[in-house]
Amino acid sequence: MKFHKSILRAFTNLLCLALFLPLTQSSKPPFSCDKSNPQSNSFSFCNTILPIPVRARDLVSRLTIDEKISQLISTAPAIPRLGIPAYQWWSEALHGVSYSGRGISFDGDITKATSFPQVILTAASFDDHLWYRIGQVIGKEARAVYNEGQAKGMTFWAPNINIFRDPRWGRGQETPGEDPLVTGKYAISYVRGVQGDSFQGGILKHGELQASACCKHFTAYDLDNWKGITRFGFDARVTKQDLADTFQPPFKSCIKEGKASGLMCAFNRVNGVPACADRNLLTQIARKEWGFRGYITSDCGAVSIIYEKHKYAGTPEDAVADVLKAGMDVDCGYYLFNYTKSALLKKKISESNIDRALHNLFSTRMRLGLFNGDPSKLPYGKIGPDQVCTKEHQELALEAARNGIVLLKNSDRLLPLSKKTLPSLAVIGPNANNAYVMLGNYEGPPCISIEVFKVLQGYVQQNAVYHQGCDAVNCTSADINDAVNTAKNADYVVLVMGLDRSQEGEDLDREVLTLPGQQESLITAVANAAKKPVILVLFCGGPVDITFAKLDPKIGSILWAGYPGEAGGIALAEIIFGDHNPGGRLPITWYPKEFVNIPMTDMRMRPDPSSGYPGRTYRFYNGEKVFEFGYGLSYSTYSYNFIDVPQKTIYLNQLSATSQATSNSSNAVRYLSVSELSKESCEKAKFSAIVGVENLGDLAGRHPVLLFVRQAKLRNGNPMKQLVGFQSVSLNAGAKAGIEFKLSPCEHLNSANEDGLMVIEEGFRYLVVGDKEYPINVVI
Ligand SMILES: *[C@@H]1O[C@H](CO)[C@@H](O)[C@H](O)[C@H]1NC(C)=O
Ligand SMILES: *[C@@H]1O[C@H](CO)[C@@H](O)[C@H](O)[C@H]1NC(C)=O
Ligand SMILES: *[C@@H]1O[C@H](CO)[C@@H](O)[C@H](O)[C@H]1NC(C)=O
Repeated sequence: MKFHKSILRAFTNLLCLALFLPLTQSSKPPFSCDKSNPQSNSFSFCNTILPIPVRARDLVSRLTIDEKISQLISTAPAIPRLGIPAYQWWSEALHGVSYSGRGISFDGDITKATSFPQVILTAASFDDHLWYRIGQVIGKEARAVYNEGQAKGMTFWAPNINIFRDPRWGRGQETPGEDPLVTGKYAISYVRGVQGDSFQGGILKHGELQASACCKHFTAYDLDNWKGITRFGFDARVTKQDLADTFQPPFKSCIKEGKASGLMCAFNRVNGVPACADRNLLTQIARKEWGFRGYITSDCGAVSIIYEKHKYAGTPEDAVADVLKAGMDVDCGYYLFNYTKSALLKKKISESNIDRALHNLFSTRMRLGLFNGDPSKLPYGKIGPDQVCTKEHQELALEAARNGIVLLKNSDRLLPLSKKTLPSLAVIGPNANNAYVMLGNYEGPPCISIEVFKVLQGYVQQNAVYHQGCDAVNCTSADINDAVNTAKNADYVVLVMGLDRSQEGEDLDREVLTLPGQQESLITAVANAAKKPVILVLFCGGPVDITFAKLDPKIGSILWAGYPGEAGGIALAEIIFGDHNPGGRLPITWYPKEFVNIPMTDMRMRPDPSSGYPGRTYRFYNGEKVFEFGYGLSYSTYSYNFIDVPQKTIYLNQLSATSQATSNSSNAVRYLSVSELSKESCEKAKFSAIVGVENLGDLAGRHPVLLFVRQAKLRNGNPMKQLVGFQSVSLNAGAKAGIEFKLSPCEHLNSANEDGLMVIEEGFRYLVVGDKEYPINVVI
């Protein structure tokens, strides 16, 4: 959401104006329709008996044209004559209530909030109920912040559900990874939790919101700043096939099943059209096809760049007209504030375009309960500061870190270390003694702040020494000799290395996949000198090529910890000393360093053998990998088998008398279009696969089971394999369980054709879990 510099300057001016308005620094939460004010009883929009659309229409009808225009930007001023306070649309809560954005301050009774792991690590737990519980906590803490008068808005611009398409993307850390199913499930869980819906969904309907979540950035946004090419001017050229089965599905899930009340259009163009000016995307697809009911915001400054960077609009007024006609409702920026009036006078828009936007905006504020009078009387009105950073919330942050951390290597069972012998430890590396780095971006002030080194030191009763190794994470200068000497004297060495925000982040994509500066030399030298093989811990969102460490026998264990949040140090120490058995699995492919030879700007997911283009993600990339999607070890090993798949052949020809199988002679495969099948037919064709899992180890563990479908014959640009289900199961040592996966041919056996149509092809494919495969056949 970071602003383009010139945009930021103009916007800051606007903010200074806003400070002189009432209610910005009050300790009472801002609200409308105060019952103690007799005037408010005469406004229909205050009448909570009436349906929200009726109330919103009434409110909009009372506004003058200047008042209307004032409400089209994210820093919306008060309208005192109607008792409407100022509203700030822009707040952030990616992995905890954050001070990023403009709406939240931590300067009152609430000074901290629970800081969960950065999303990429949380995703590695493959546990959608955990994701839901995290969403619930974030929504609750957000409401507490509002009730305490420290929020100027209740609209939060998360989750970030763009596919982590390229390992260099600086914001990949904010996402649930590279798989559309995982990303979609994450979106649903997070949104339902934040907004106050149930895990299964459906309680909320179109009613009250605990807090508002926002699916972003719609769509095909996953390049920030690569070799000077920035998101502000980038045109993402995407195929219909890639859109249909990669870029769009998470947004469809977020809207249709998550029932998100917010949607953000992206900075970039999609096939030539700036996302915020794309009526097909915003109105046709999101609202009409997917049934989106909520408000659509621009990313910050995304309207101005339609004229200034993309040069898609000929004048600022054209940019304003483009976005309002496309279906965008609020501008995070100033363009709609400055140029809507003149666009109206020049007849580039009509007042009804404005009214439509305002209707969506005020409906959202009403659903948040901000027009119901005294908010302490609301269902969520009793959530107080004592419900922020509770023991339970902090325990959940720890659980998320524990269950996300991935064990990448563990030769000769180096880990876990024994606590009983109180070994001496040398803890080396710039990331070992820095609690802030563990938060990742879009952070808030954490409930606790504790470095990895400090927790490890506690485990060995002070028998630990620290050496920074590198001057900073960029490791432009390293004290290798000194670090080596420190390592020589210890029983065990833990190196805590990787990346931080100086290497990957918003506006900052990487150009290399290796560890920065002299990190590799330092790690290798320390490993060579140490008494025993060393333990390497990596903080990073995007993957790094650590082939050197994978192959080096002196590096015994490797742990990937993403950015593990406020409890990351505790979780790591628990894993290192065996208080927790790691079970996280990678939500992204780790590519070799040569991958950077392909331009980041090439959006194609599918490989192109004629030019040597390797494709992207586990679904399409067929080159060498450092670690695969779904890879992750444990202190236990698990075995799988297919217990039962009651239906081995799925007869789709009986599903619908009307649908006609079409065959393409050159590809000789018959298929049905999913859209031709009725909902009932799809429902009727559901089948299950029961997978057995056994913990063969001598420790209890939590293990995510991933079920894929692999194509028997690769054709028509289909993915090599596709995740179709995942479930996380806790198993005692030696215990077994049978897990049922419910599959629907319409959802799980379909594929996108070149026209972006979802079809079900006839023929064989395999269900795959670990090293076990099970053939199923589709007859149409
Ligand atoms: C937009 O309006 C703001 C506030 O009045 C002003 O500071 C800014 O310069 C204007 N921007 C342009 C490009 O006109
Ligand atoms: C490395 O990081 C340090 C600390 O952040 C910084 O002062 C220095 O300029 C960086 N060096 C390079 C070459 O970027
Ligand atoms: C059949 O597939 C080929 C190759 O994908 C394509 O060029 C052709 O247009 C298709 N024909 C029909 C009738 O869909």
